[in-house]
Amino acid sequence: MSDVSHNWEEFLKRIADAKSSADVDALDQELFGRKAGVLTVALKEMGTLDPETRKRKAQELNAAKAKLTMALEEKHRTLNEPSGEALRDKDRLDVTLDLPRQEHGHLHLIPEFIREVEDIFGRMGFDVAYGPEVETEEYNFNKLNIPESHPARDAQDTFWVKDAKKTVLRTHTSPVQIRYMQEHKPPFQMICPGRVYRKDADATHSPMFHQWEGLMVGKDISLANMKAVMIAAITELIGKDVEFRFRTGYFPFVEPGLEVDVRWQGDESQSREGRWLEIVGCGMVHPKVLENGGIDPTKWQGFAFGFGVERMLMIRHRIPDLRMFYEGDVRFLRQF
Ligand code: DAH
Repeated sequence: MSDVSHNWEEFLKRIADAKSSADVDALDQELFGRKAGVLTVALKEMGTLDPETRKRKAQELNAAKAKLTMALEEKHRTLNEPSGEALRDKDRLDVTLDLPRQEHGHLHLIPEFIREVEDIFGRMGFDVAYGPEVETEEYNFNKLNIPESHPARDAQDTFWVKDAKKTVLRTHTSPVQIRYMQEHKPPFQMICPGRVYRKDADATHSPMFHQWEGLMVGKDISLANMKAVMIAAITELIGKDVEFRFRTGYFPFVEPGLEVDVRWQGDESQSREGRWLEIVGCGMVHPKVLENGGIDPTKWQGFAFGFGVERMLMIRHRIPDLRMFYEGDVRFLRQF
């Protein structure tokens, strides 16, 4: 038998040019058909060749077989692949499909409210600062002009951290005033929200609650400026029609000191007029406190204030019991 040579390249080209799966099948048959396939026959005829030629021919045929098989498979794949259009149809997402609703979580109403506070004061030009929750006695009391005898120092109120009695869980956000003054040159205005701790825990008190403090220092910042800021904040946070009053109050770190009350009708048991609820302590910063913050009280003056976050929220949403904030009952939390 003769050593017939075939043009395998020609076959590869014909495979590449095939227009349909049927064309590819026909070529497959022409090459690998059991009886008359060109490659099948060539492979069979190898047995008749002399050893030297057979070896060379085997290499050629095996290489051709591998290439052609791959080309046929490849061509089948590309011909069977759906067009771009069909592909889009297949993967199209049916957005009208009614799936069970996914429950999304959200911020607890306290941090959410604090963000709102930061936003409102931010629009009035106030910086936002944070201070440590574990404070020194020095910052929490002494530098704020709070005397030994002040009730907040009482063992009943303050959580002392160490036996040395020098470290406390801050009982208010006021120490941040001192820290801020020590790090900034006036004029400035800032608020500092955060957690505070006191030992009392009954229906109307919690051992941990939230406040936000404010401080504005400048050349001629007055009580009138303070009143304007208080009114703006209160009406934005609890509503334009809220009824409130300013009255004098005592805090060692301000002079004069004031308190703002709002009328509250939250608990049903109360009379129709409701009762006055204190929501913020404020006043002109005491000269000693400015001095403790490294600010010259003969050149600068300003006001400070401290709001209770939970108090404000109770008024705004008519929440009857402080403890509801911390119980984690989703029936309560989902309402906000
Ligand atoms: N630190 C006070 C408290 O926790 C609240 C307070 C009152 C803050 C008057 C002030 C202020 O800045 O001027 O009861």
